[in-house]
Amino acid sequence: INIKREQLHSHSIMKIAHRGAAGECPENTFAAFERAVELGAEYIEIDVQLTKDNHIVVIHDFTIDRTTNGKGKVKDFTYNELQKFDAGSWFSPAFKGERIPLFKEVLTKYSGKIGLLIEFKKPSNYPGIEQLVAKEISNQLFNEEEIIVQSFDLQSLKKFQSFLPKIPIGLLINYPLHKKDITRFAKHIQYLNPKWTMVNQKLMKSLHEENLKTIVWTVNTYNELQHIKRWPIDGIVTNYLEIFDNEKS
Ligand code: G3P
Ligand code: CA
Repeated sequence: INIKREQLHSHSIMKIAHRGAAGECPENTFAAFERAVELGAEYIEIDVQLTKDNHIVVIHDFTIDRTTNGKGKVKDFTYNELQKFDAGSWFSPAFKGERIPLFKEVLTKYSGKIGLLIEFKKPSNYPGIEQLVAKEISNQLFNEEEIIVQSFDLQSLKKFQSFLPKIPIGLLINYPLHKKDITRFAKHIQYLNPKWTMVNQKLMKSLHEENLKTIVWTVNTYNELQHIKRWPIDGIVTNYLEIFDNEKS
């Protein structure tokens, strides 16, 4: 079996903006999402967590320390309390006033404009988050075909898919896998999303045999892109969308 990319026909790779255009804007803010749309991303990757009062917010870390001017765990604040923190200045004074986005607002704003790759971040800390996210997607009538959900937590993904079976789920992987693990995962998932450095002939062969799609992360340079696009992958997550400039697909 030869599955090198150049031998496939028009296989286009989804361009996915990691936490928005996180290379040039503060991650997981509306500034970063707007810039991702401007730069031609097809999906925005976002991380979701829950506040103390069960609002779904978009933030990567378990605490607000790194990406806001506040300190403490996301889950220890109400949504109103979280809104008081500045989520832009840590990156540059030009982004002063950015806030931690509410997931619902992201759905409302980007419905029909761009796809969403949603990551459940440490979902075992947030019992019930899967159902809340599914409900919000249904309430906001976001096109289910424009959403992919991913996590390192397979149980969480399965739970989510029990609420919205049409939305594909992807297992994030940052460790080497045996074929038997991939076969086992393939019973439940549609995507297997490895760290890009793990992609090799053996992994691609197993994914192909199990009919799994794959989104790789996080590819940040032109050289890394040239390396990874030799394989028939389905999507690339990047902080720097400009690496796709001069690319045909
Ligand atoms: O898209 C995968 C990637 O987002 C996983 O890593 O730490 O950036 O959430 P992290
Ligand atoms: Ca993520």
